[in-house]
Amino acid sequence: MTDPYTLDRPRVRRSFGRAAAAYDGSAVLQARVRDELLARLDVVRLEPAVALDLGTGTGHGARALKGRYRSSRVVALDVSERMLAEAGQRRSLLRRFDRVCADAGALPLRDASVDLVFSNLMLQWCDDPEVAFRECRRVLRPGGLVTFTTFGPDTLAELRRAWAAVDRHTHVNRFIDMHDLGDALVRAGLAEPVLDVERYTLTYESARELMRDLKAIGAHNANAGRPRGLTGRRALAGMEAAYEAYRRDGRLPATYEVVYGHAWKPLAEPAGRRATGEVSIPVGRIGRRTPT
Ligand SMILES: C[S@@+](CC[C@H](N)C(=O)[O-])C[C@H]1O[C@@H](n2cnc3c(N)ncnc32)[C@H](O)[C@@H]1O
Repeated sequence: MTDPYTLDRPRVRRSFGRAAAAYDGSAVLQARVRDELLARLDVVRLEPAVALDLGTGTGHGARALKGRYRSSRVVALDVSERMLAEAGQRRSLLRRFDRVCADAGALPLRDASVDLVFSNLMLQWCDDPEVAFRECRRVLRPGGLVTFTTFGPDTLAELRRAWAAVDRHTHVNRFIDMHDLGDALVRAGLAEPVLDVERYTLTYESARELMRDLKAIGAHNANAGRPRGLTGRRALAGMEAAYEAYRRDGRLPATYEVVYGHAWKPLAEPAGRRATGEVSIPVGRIGRRTPT
Protein backbone atom coordinates (compact mmCIF):
# COMPACT_ATOMS: atom_id res chain seq x y z
CA MET A 1 0.00 0.00 0.00
CA THR A 2 1.29 3.49 -0.83
CA ASP A 3 2.36 5.59 2.12
CA PRO A 4 -0.34 8.33 2.24
CA TYR A 5 2.39 10.89 2.95
CA THR A 6 4.43 10.15 -0.19
CA LEU A 7 4.73 13.42 -2.05
CA ASP A 8 3.71 13.82 -5.67
CA ARG A 9 6.94 15.47 -6.92
CA PRO A 10 5.60 16.99 -10.17
CA ARG A 11 2.71 18.45 -8.17
CA VAL A 12 5.13 19.99 -5.64
CA ARG A 13 7.13 21.53 -8.49
CA ARG A 14 4.02 22.84 -10.24
CA SER A 15 2.55 24.30 -7.04
CA PHE A 16 5.73 26.23 -6.23
CA GLY A 17 6.02 27.30 -9.86
CA ARG A 18 2.51 28.76 -9.85
CA ALA A 19 3.18 30.54 -6.57
CA ALA A 20 6.54 31.96 -7.63
CA ALA A 21 5.45 35.44 -8.74
CA ALA A 22 3.46 36.20 -5.57
CA TYR A 23 5.53 34.09 -3.12
CA ASP A 24 7.31 36.98 -1.40
CA GLY A 25 4.02 38.69 -0.52
CA SER A 26 2.91 35.79 1.68
CA ALA A 27 6.13 34.09 2.79
CA VAL A 28 6.38 36.05 6.05
CA LEU A 29 7.38 33.13 8.27
CA GLN A 30 9.86 31.87 5.66
CA ALA A 31 11.56 35.30 5.64
CA ARG A 32 11.72 35.45 9.42
CA VAL A 33 13.17 31.95 9.74
CA ARG A 34 15.64 32.66 6.92
CA ASP A 35 16.89 35.77 8.74
CA GLU A 36 17.37 33.74 11.91
CA LEU A 37 19.24 31.00 10.03
CA LEU A 38 21.48 33.63 8.42
CA ALA A 39 22.09 35.27 11.81
CA ARG A 40 23.26 31.94 13.17
CA LEU A 41 26.08 32.00 10.60
CA ASP A 42 27.53 35.00 12.50
CA VAL A 43 29.09 32.69 15.05
CA VAL A 44 30.65 30.36 12.46
CA ARG A 45 34.06 31.27 11.09
CA LEU A 46 33.73 30.37 7.45
CA GLU A 47 34.91 31.91 4.19
CA PRO A 48 33.23 29.61 1.67
CA ALA A 49 34.66 29.61 -1.84
CA VAL A 50 31.36 28.07 -2.96
CA ALA A 51 28.02 28.35 -1.12
CA LEU A 52 24.83 26.58 -2.15
CA ASP A 53 21.32 27.82 -1.33
CA LEU A 54 19.37 24.57 -1.52
CA GLY A 55 15.67 25.16 -2.34
CA THR A 56 16.32 28.85 -2.92
CA GLY A 57 12.75 29.82 -3.90
CA THR A 58 12.89 33.45 -5.02
CA GLY A 59 16.59 33.64 -4.18
CA HIS A 60 16.69 35.70 -0.98
CA GLY A 61 19.00 33.23 0.73
CA ALA A 62 21.41 33.27 -2.22
CA ARG A 63 21.44 37.08 -2.30
CA ALA A 64 22.07 37.28 1.43
CA LEU A 65 24.90 34.74 1.17
CA LYS A 66 26.48 36.75 -1.63
CA GLY A 67 26.19 39.91 0.51
CA ARG A 68 27.82 38.15 3.43
CA TYR A 69 30.58 36.29 1.57
CA ARG A 70 31.52 38.77 -1.16
CA SER A 71 34.23 36.68 -2.81
CA SER A 72 32.22 33.43 -2.78
CA ARG A 73 30.59 31.85 -5.75
CA VAL A 74 26.95 31.36 -4.75
CA VAL A 75 24.72 28.77 -6.38
CA ALA A 76 20.93 29.03 -6.02
CA LEU A 77 19.27 25.67 -6.60
CA ASP A 78 15.58 24.87 -6.82
CA VAL A 79 13.36 22.21 -8.35
CA SER A 80 11.09 24.90 -9.80
CA GLU A 81 12.21 26.76 -12.92
CA ARG A 82 9.70 29.49 -12.25
CA MET A 83 11.06 30.08 -8.76
CA LEU A 84 14.53 30.34 -10.29
CA ALA A 85 13.23 32.80 -12.89
CA GLU A 86 11.94 35.01 -10.05
CA ALA A 87 15.26 34.61 -8.26
CA GLY A 88 17.01 35.79 -11.43
CA GLN A 89 14.99 39.01 -11.42
CA ARG A 90 16.15 39.73 -7.87
CA ARG A 91 19.84 39.52 -8.72
CA SER A 92 21.89 42.69 -8.68
CA LEU A 93 25.32 43.49 -10.06
CA LEU A 94 26.85 43.19 -6.62
CA ARG A 95 24.86 40.14 -5.65
CA ARG A 96 25.32 37.79 -8.58
CA PHE A 97 24.67 34.11 -8.18
CA ASP A 98 24.34 31.08 -10.43
CA ARG A 99 21.04 29.27 -10.81
CA VAL A 100 20.58 25.53 -11.09
CA CYS A 101 17.29 23.70 -11.57
CA ALA A 102 17.54 20.31 -9.85
CA ASP A 103 16.20 18.12 -7.08
CA ALA A 104 17.88 18.16 -3.67
CA GLY A 105 17.98 14.37 -3.87
CA ALA A 106 20.18 14.35 -6.99
CA LEU A 107 22.47 17.38 -7.08
CA PRO A 108 24.20 17.99 -10.43
CA LEU A 109 27.32 19.15 -8.59
CA ARG A 110 30.74 17.53 -8.29
CA ASP A 111 31.85 15.69 -5.18
CA ALA A 112 33.59 17.93 -2.64
CA SER A 113 32.91 21.14 -4.58
CA VAL A 114 30.92 23.17 -2.02
CA ASP A 115 31.93 24.69 1.34
CA LEU A 116 28.54 25.71 2.70
CA VAL A 117 25.05 24.34 2.10
CA PHE A 118 22.31 26.67 3.32
CA SER A 119 18.72 25.44 3.14
CA ASN A 120 15.69 27.29 4.49
CA LEU A 121 12.35 25.46 4.78
CA MET A 122 12.86 23.14 1.82
CA LEU A 123 13.54 19.75 3.44
CA GLN A 124 9.90 19.21 4.48
CA TRP A 125 9.22 18.80 0.75
CA CYS A 126 11.55 15.80 0.51
CA ASP A 127 10.09 12.36 1.23
CA ASP A 128 13.30 11.33 2.92
CA PRO A 129 15.60 14.11 4.11
CA GLU A 130 18.40 11.57 4.54
CA VAL A 131 18.67 11.37 0.74
CA ALA A 132 19.22 15.14 0.59
CA PHE A 133 21.66 14.99 3.52
CA ARG A 134 23.66 12.31 1.68
CA GLU A 135 23.85 14.58 -1.33
CA CYS A 136 24.95 17.46 0.91
CA ARG A 137 27.69 15.28 2.33
CA ARG A 138 28.80 14.22 -1.14
CA VAL A 139 29.07 17.74 -2.55
CA LEU A 140 30.61 19.28 0.58
CA ARG A 141 34.36 19.58 0.93
CA PRO A 142 35.80 17.98 4.08
CA GLY A 143 35.20 20.47 6.88
CA GLY A 144 32.22 21.99 5.03
CA LEU A 145 28.97 22.91 6.77
CA VAL A 146 25.30 22.21 6.09
CA THR A 147 22.89 24.51 7.91
CA PHE A 148 19.15 24.20 7.49
CA THR A 149 15.64 24.66 8.81
CA THR A 150 12.62 22.46 8.34
CA PHE A 151 9.27 21.94 10.03
CA GLY A 152 8.75 19.65 13.03
CA PRO A 153 5.69 17.51 13.84
CA ASP A 154 3.72 20.17 15.74
CA THR A 155 3.55 22.33 12.63
CA LEU A 156 -0.04 23.09 11.62
CA ALA A 157 -1.25 20.82 14.45
CA GLU A 158 -4.53 22.75 14.68
CA LEU A 159 -5.23 22.32 10.97
CA ARG A 160 -4.29 18.64 11.07
CA ARG A 161 -6.68 18.04 14.00
CA ALA A 162 -9.47 20.10 12.46
CA TRP A 163 -9.30 17.99 9.29
CA ALA A 164 -9.11 14.77 11.35
CA ALA A 165 -12.53 15.68 12.78
CA VAL A 166 -13.93 15.55 9.24
CA ASP A 167 -12.32 12.72 7.26
CA ARG A 168 -9.42 10.28 7.09
CA HIS A 169 -7.63 11.82 4.13
CA THR A 170 -4.15 13.29 4.40
CA HIS A 171 -4.43 17.08 4.38
CA VAL A 172 -1.18 18.15 6.05
CA ASN A 173 2.37 16.92 5.31
CA ARG A 174 4.21 14.59 7.67
CA PHE A 175 6.87 16.61 9.48
CA ILE A 176 9.90 14.85 10.92
CA ASP A 177 10.94 15.01 14.54
CA MET A 178 14.21 16.74 15.46
CA HIS A 179 15.70 13.52 16.84
CA ASP A 180 14.94 11.61 13.65
CA LEU A 181 16.55 14.40 11.64
CA GLY A 182 19.62 14.07 13.85
CA ASP A 183 19.70 10.33 13.18
CA ALA A 184 19.35 10.97 9.44
CA LEU A 185 22.27 13.43 9.49
CA VAL A 186 24.49 10.89 11.24
CA ARG A 187 23.44 8.06 8.92
CA ALA A 188 24.25 10.33 5.98
CA GLY A 189 27.79 10.62 7.34
CA LEU A 190 27.59 14.19 8.62
CA ALA A 191 29.31 14.93 11.91
CA GLU A 192 28.56 16.88 15.10
CA PRO A 193 24.91 17.57 14.32
CA VAL A 194 23.31 20.24 16.49
CA LEU A 195 19.54 20.71 16.44
CA ASP A 196 17.04 22.88 18.24
CA VAL A 197 13.44 23.91 17.87
CA GLU A 198 11.66 27.27 17.89
CA ARG A 199 7.92 27.73 17.83
CA TYR A 200 6.12 30.47 15.96
CA THR A 201 2.40 31.21 15.96
CA LEU A 202 0.73 33.07 13.13
CA THR A 203 -2.87 34.14 13.64
CA TYR A 204 -5.69 34.33 11.15
CA GLU A 205 -9.17 35.71 10.87
CA SER A 206 -10.43 32.36 9.58
CA ALA A 207 -9.23 28.86 8.66
CA ARG A 208 -9.95 29.74 5.05
CA GLU A 209 -7.50 32.64 5.27
CA LEU A 210 -4.83 30.23 6.55
CA MET A 211 -5.53 27.84 3.66
CA ARG A 212 -5.26 30.75 1.21
CA ASP A 213 -1.93 31.77 2.73
CA LEU A 214 -0.54 28.24 2.41
CA LYS A 215 -1.57 28.06 -1.23
CA ALA A 216 -0.10 31.51 -1.92
CA ILE A 217 3.39 30.27 -1.01
CA GLY A 218 2.93 27.06 -3.03
CA ALA A 219 2.25 24.77 -0.06
CA HIS A 220 -0.50 22.73 -1.71
CA ASN A 221 -1.49 19.28 -0.55
CA ALA A 222 0.73 16.93 -2.59
CA ASN A 223 0.40 13.88 -0.33
CA ALA A 224 -0.60 10.57 -1.95
CA GLY A 225 -3.45 10.31 0.58
CA ARG A 226 -5.00 13.67 -0.33
CA PRO A 227 -8.68 13.71 -1.28
CA ARG A 228 -9.08 13.50 -5.05
CA GLY A 229 -11.24 15.98 -6.90
CA LEU A 230 -12.52 19.14 -5.29
CA THR A 231 -12.74 19.03 -1.52
CA GLY A 232 -16.46 19.07 -0.83
CA ARG A 233 -18.06 22.20 0.52
CA ARG A 234 -19.42 20.24 3.46
CA ALA A 235 -15.97 18.84 4.38
CA LEU A 236 -14.47 22.32 4.24
CA ALA A 237 -17.23 23.72 6.44
CA GLY A 238 -16.68 20.83 8.90
CA MET A 239 -12.96 21.58 9.11
CA GLU A 240 -13.65 25.29 9.62
CA ALA A 241 -16.11 24.54 12.41
CA ALA A 242 -13.62 22.20 14.13
CA TYR A 243 -10.85 24.81 13.83
CA GLU A 244 -13.04 27.32 15.73
CA ALA A 245 -12.25 25.38 18.96
CA TYR A 246 -8.79 27.02 18.86
CA ARG A 247 -10.01 30.63 18.56
CA ARG A 248 -8.37 32.92 21.15
CA ASP A 249 -8.86 36.66 21.48
CA GLY A 250 -10.81 36.67 18.26
CA ARG A 251 -8.07 35.03 16.13
CA LEU A 252 -7.24 31.50 14.98
CA PRO A 253 -3.67 30.37 15.71
CA ALA A 254 -1.50 28.30 13.37
CA THR A 255 1.50 26.76 15.11
CA TYR A 256 4.81 26.28 13.33
CA GLU A 257 7.53 24.18 14.94
CA VAL A 258 10.75 25.10 13.19
CA VAL A 259 13.76 22.82 13.51
CA TYR A 260 17.13 24.54 13.12
CA GLY A 261 20.04 22.21 12.43
CA HIS A 262 23.60 22.08 11.27
CA ALA A 263 26.29 19.45 10.80
CA TRP A 264 29.75 19.17 9.28
CA LYS A 265 31.37 17.00 6.67
CA PRO A 266 34.12 15.23 8.58
CA LEU A 267 37.71 16.13 7.73
CA ALA A 268 38.46 12.43 7.49
CA GLU A 269 36.26 9.40 6.87
CA PRO A 270 35.01 8.09 10.22
CA ALA A 271 36.40 4.68 11.13
CA GLY A 272 32.88 3.20 11.11
CA ARG A 273 32.16 4.19 7.47
CA ARG A 274 31.81 1.11 5.29
CA ALA A 275 32.08 0.74 1.55
CA THR A 276 28.25 0.84 1.33
CA GLY A 277 28.29 4.39 2.65
CA GLU A 278 26.78 3.27 5.95
CA VAL A 279 28.23 4.69 9.14
CA SER A 280 28.01 3.40 12.66
CA ILE A 281 28.03 6.31 15.09
CA PRO A 282 26.15 6.12 18.38
CA VAL A 283 22.99 8.22 18.41
CA GLY A 284 24.13 9.58 21.79
CA ARG A 285 26.70 11.66 19.89
CA ILE A 286 23.95 13.84 18.40
CA GLY A 287 24.18 17.20 20.10
CA ARG A 288 21.39 19.51 21.11
CA ARG A 289 21.73 23.26 21.42
CA THR A 290 20.96 24.33 24.97
CA PRO A 291 18.91 27.52 25.27
CA THR A 292 20.99 30.56 26.28
C1 LIG B 1 8.91 27.15 1.21
S1 LIG B 1 9.93 27.44 -0.16
C2 LIG B 1 11.39 28.15 0.63
C3 LIG B 1 12.16 29.02 -0.33
C4 LIG B 1 13.37 29.75 0.24
N1 LIG B 1 14.37 28.84 0.76
C5 LIG B 1 13.00 30.79 1.26
O1 LIG B 1 13.72 30.95 2.23
O2 LIG B 1 12.01 31.51 1.04
C6 LIG B 1 10.50 25.83 -0.61
C7 LIG B 1 11.29 25.81 -1.92
O3 LIG B 1 11.88 24.53 -2.05
C8 LIG B 1 11.75 24.11 -3.39
N2 LIG B 1 11.79 22.64 -3.40
C9 LIG B 1 10.83 21.78 -2.97
N3 LIG B 1 11.25 20.53 -3.09
C10 LIG B 1 12.51 20.58 -3.59
C11 LIG B 1 13.49 19.60 -3.93
N4 LIG B 1 13.24 18.31 -3.77
N5 LIG B 1 14.67 20.01 -4.42
C12 LIG B 1 14.94 21.33 -4.58
N6 LIG B 1 14.06 22.30 -4.28
C13 LIG B 1 12.87 21.94 -3.77
C14 LIG B 1 10.43 24.71 -3.86
O4 LIG B 1 10.34 24.80 -5.26
C15 LIG B 1 10.45 26.06 -3.15
O5 LIG B 1 11.03 27.04 -3.95
